[in-house]
Amino acid sequence: MTKMTAAITGIYGWAPDYILTNQELEKMVDTSDEWITSRTGIKERHILKGEGLGTSDIGTEAVKGLLKKTNTLPDEIDLLILATVTPDMLFPASANIIADKVGIKNAWSFDINAACSGFLFALVTASKFIETGQYKKVILIGADKMSAITDYSDRTTCILFGDAGGAVLLEPSTEGYGILDSQNYTDGSGRIYLHQKAGGSVKPPSHETVDAREHYIFQEGQAVFKFAVKGMADVSEEIMERNNLTRDDIAYLVPHQANMRIIDATARRMNLDPKKVMINIQRYGNTTNGTIPMCLYEWEDKLKKGDNLILSAFGGGFTWGSIFLKWAYDPK
Ligand code: UT7
Repeated sequence: MTKMTAAITGIYGWAPDYILTNQELEKMVDTSDEWITSRTGIKERHILKGEGLGTSDIGTEAVKGLLKKTNTLPDEIDLLILATVTPDMLFPASANIIADKVGIKNAWSFDINAACSGFLFALVTASKFIETGQYKKVILIGADKMSAITDYSDRTTCILFGDAGGAVLLEPSTEGYGILDSQNYTDGSGRIYLHQKAGGSVKPPSHETVDAREHYIFQEGQAVFKFAVKGMADVSEEIMERNNLTRDDIAYLVPHQANMRIIDATARRMNLDPKKVMINIQRYGNTTNGTIPMCLYEWEDKLKKGDNLILSAFGGGFTWGSIFLKWAYDPK
């Protein structure tokens, strides 16, 4: 029997217009363009401005673009999954809100939260619904409005994050394209280094939590950095070895964009030519679930049918993982 795999057959990315530059941040906190650039690689990030706008609005733009581009009708979609850490509200799932806003009525939908590895975890999850033969068209979105949980008085975190998102269409392939292998990990003991202190069931919102600025990202950067460098490099090497891939077999590494130095360390361990690494961190910063789909979207016209891609991420949780994917189509 021919094996069914889940192939990406279309992609669309979206970022809001407003751009927050390093120069502007220099006026907000005690930092410098030189420090931010040398420590992270980031020059600017996009921010979603406007009352009443949230992650679902980013996801909606991405899905609308995807449906149009792939000539897909909302009614054809069987399932919609959103990977995010900044849902519009704690419940209901923002995936439902996106489905409603774009007119997807015959599908079910849900959110996945795996911090910066969310797009990878959700891509593996989504692919299983295709591999079983149950569904023919699944939309997966990775989107975050990180500005909603960023403390713009904390120079150690506010320079890192931005808002953006992307959506992919997944369809069955019987010719060996799409997600061919994956390896994901979590280690909950890492939660102490990267989390949001209040707003959940342990510490519901109160005047005290707001006064203590506990509704923002808390990160011990150095600790996360050490785990991230090792985690992302180890798992990328593991997936290469398991699939007998050498540096020459890989068309691109598609890394989560958290820090240029983490990306470099991963590429070095894979012994990859720097030209084979997708990098747009300088223009978007860390958009959490948006980084990998935004890279794929911006590199789409360079990707050829049969290209081997390695997608890798590390993030809060801790969560980390890698996917081996064979690209399914030539530039259109
Ligand atoms: O995607 C989710 C996973 N997250 C990550 O992967 C992030 C991992 N961590 C990192 O990327 C890095 O740790 C950071 C970019 C967050 C920080 O870089 P670092 O090289 O680890 O800097 P550091 O925290 O060790 O700080 C070095 C110095 C400190 O000053 P002292 O103590 O040496 O005097 C900081 O106070 O830099 C100072 N500093 C800054 N200076 C200017 C921290 N933030 C800034 C800033 N501008 N924005």
